[in-house]
Amino acid sequence: MLRFNQNGQISNPQVEKGLTSPPENFKHYKIKNLKMLKNFILKSVLVSLLFIRSVFSFADEGMWLPIYADVISGNMQKLGCKLKPEDIYNINHSSLKDAIVQVGDFCSGEIVSDKGLLFTNHHCGFDAIAGLSTPEKNHLVDGFWATTLNDELPAQGLTVSILVHMQDVTKRVNEAEDQELEKAVIAGEAEEDGKFTAGVFSMFEGAEHYLMVYRVFRDIRLVGTPPEVVGKFGGDTDNWMWPRHTCDFSVFRIYAGKDNEPADYSSENVPYKPAHFLPVSLKGMKEGDFTMTFGYPGQTDRFLASPAIEQHINSNYPSYVKILEARLAVMKTEMDADQKTNLAMAADYASLANSWKYFKGVVEGAGSTGFINTKQEQEKAFTQWVEQDETRKKEYGNILTEFDALYESTTEIKKLEKYINVAAFAPAFTGYGFQFYSLRELLSKKEDTAPLVEQIQAATGEQFKEYLAATDKKMLAMALKLMHDDLPATQQLNIFNSKTFLKLKDKPGKNVYDQYAELIGTKSIFFSDKKARAFLSKPSLKKLDADEGMKYILSVVELYQMSNMELYLFEMQNESLQKNYIKAQREMYPEKFFYPDANSCMRLSYGQVKPYTTRDKEFKTFYTHHYQILEKEKPGDPEFDVPKKLHDLLVGKDFGQYSKNDTLNICLISGNDITGGNSGSPLIDGEGNLVGIAFDGNWESMISDLYYDPNYARTISVDIRYVLFMIDKFGGCKRLIDELVIKS
Ligand code: ARG
Repeated sequence: MLRFNQNGQISNPQVEKGLTSPPENFKHYKIKNLKMLKNFILKSVLVSLLFIRSVFSFADEGMWLPIYADVISGNMQKLGCKLKPEDIYNINHSSLKDAIVQVGDFCSGEIVSDKGLLFTNHHCGFDAIAGLSTPEKNHLVDGFWATTLNDELPAQGLTVSILVHMQDVTKRVNEAEDQELEKAVIAGEAEEDGKFTAGVFSMFEGAEHYLMVYRVFRDIRLVGTPPEVVGKFGGDTDNWMWPRHTCDFSVFRIYAGKDNEPADYSSENVPYKPAHFLPVSLKGMKEGDFTMTFGYPGQTDRFLASPAIEQHINSNYPSYVKILEARLAVMKTEMDADQKTNLAMAADYASLANSWKYFKGVVEGAGSTGFINTKQEQEKAFTQWVEQDETRKKEYGNILTEFDALYESTTEIKKLEKYINVAAFAPAFTGYGFQFYSLRELLSKKEDTAPLVEQIQAATGEQFKEYLAATDKKMLAMALKLMHDDLPATQQLNIFNSKTFLKLKDKPGKNVYDQYAELIGTKSIFFSDKKARAFLSKPSLKKLDADEGMKYILSVVELYQMSNMELYLFEMQNESLQKNYIKAQREMYPEKFFYPDANSCMRLSYGQVKPYTTRDKEFKTFYTHHYQILEKEKPGDPEFDVPKKLHDLLVGKDFGQYSKNDTLNICLISGNDITGGNSGSPLIDGEGNLVGIAFDGNWESMISDLYYDPNYARTISVDIRYVLFMIDKFGGCKRLIDELVIKS
């Protein structure tokens, strides 16, 4: 699902430039306001981490750069892969990688026909589907199937990136005096005057660098989607759970100009002709069969030392859980009350709910799995290795104790950081208001404001197009209360000392935060198109300083600035320690081939179809079946309702070519190593056929971003036969089936 880019220097346009995500694993999470905050004031440096394990130790573990397919090929073949490395990645002729795409900057997908037909997850298409829906024509609720090419709906703003090639540029970058500059130069050269989009990704904490060159397609159209209740069957209850019965797919098509190159939307555009597309196999999978996933995993932090993990588990993640819970509660009430609000917020809600459950799951997982102890055991072995040698002692002897001290001393400030980013900036007006922060700077220096005013005027239309002021006031009340109640006296917003706030008293049904938010919302120019425009026609510093919304933003910025230096120092120290720690680990296991932590570039993972036994000794089989949907069915329930047509098809066992007996396979699990961003990745068999679409991990895999456990971590995919059944039998969209190359 959604996740952040962590290097912040990738020039893929969908990866928000300059966005430095919080160093913790804050993927799956879309915070527009965080981006504003970062762009305006935060200059912290990010930490990219890695995880180290022998390629030979666990077959299913690892997110491999496809250019190293030759290194892992022997292992893959042992597990049943028939593809040669050059079938997987090749720049001289077409290969598997040409069929794998990045959807937006948050998901993966696969091309399945010579006309640019694309499969991804329903939850990846969710935003686009909601955006194309209205209360009258609600594709989210009813599903959508384009009867002809002409009925396919342009999904504005959605892009699809296809990797042209990747290249190791480590030497050139590392020899450069200014590495960041060199990376930009390399990417710039590779873009060939705008033909491509390129970026240099750093791995192993900057020890290695890889150039990635993409074609970024901008005309993407919605072709088909099941109703939400099918595409998200089980809803948030089943999210991150196995067994699963979700048909989590949606279908798009990539359109190109007549020259087959990316182009802006035009009715003249034609379906993209890919260099390769995946054939589909209806054969089904057995236990132990080879599986490969191929996509764009966002971020893993598998090489954190235990003090960092403890801080996450004991403080950072619980803060996220608490704040997200409060945000979701506000959103839910508003969404339930109004259909339009529901559509406007549905995608954000889904994304936040997913993050909320994720952080909760990691915290619980840490308690039940004891993986921190395992980490500590590994650290003991590390210490012993260091102790064996004087040079090692000098170079690496203090790493772990320094990690300890660093994390111990930064717990409070890291908590504040979360509250600022996730609570204080939750109200949507803050992103808009930040532009006035810059304006205020110009006004106070008496500099020319005209260009910025013009820019803000242009942004004003966009801001108020679908702005939900009443909801935003509730969000603000929530933020104020959390900031006030959960932070110590030294970390309070200065507006809590203002006369305006101190005058307020709790009233029945309206506490002081509700009242304060109401007051800010009623008075501030940031909540009203008319007021904002009136101000912009004659900007004045005095008026801006008197504005209640501006006061809120200023007080948050002040709090941030107070913490800024400490956070910056933390990042610096952490980065340098981590860099050294990684270097030491690679020295400790010289015979091993390392794979870098996920960082939003193309990776493949290989494994096998595999059941598992939970820690409570419950055996979990690897396939789910259609009759379980009927067992789970709860008519009228938003999560477990089954549309009548589907119910009838399942009861009547009308499975067509998608089942050879009277059972339809629904979802399956395999040991592939994936994370957020991989959503929509193809599950590929040993011959390069599409057999499923990966959409989630099991509960036990939630801790995988920090620690991969091959006994428990599983990728959940929807079986391709259920997908095709849905397109064909449920959606009646036979023309899509005819486009595929099907092996039965
Ligand atoms: N947990 C999945 C991920 O993080 C997203 C699943 C979406 N489905 C849902 N019911 N929320 O990639």
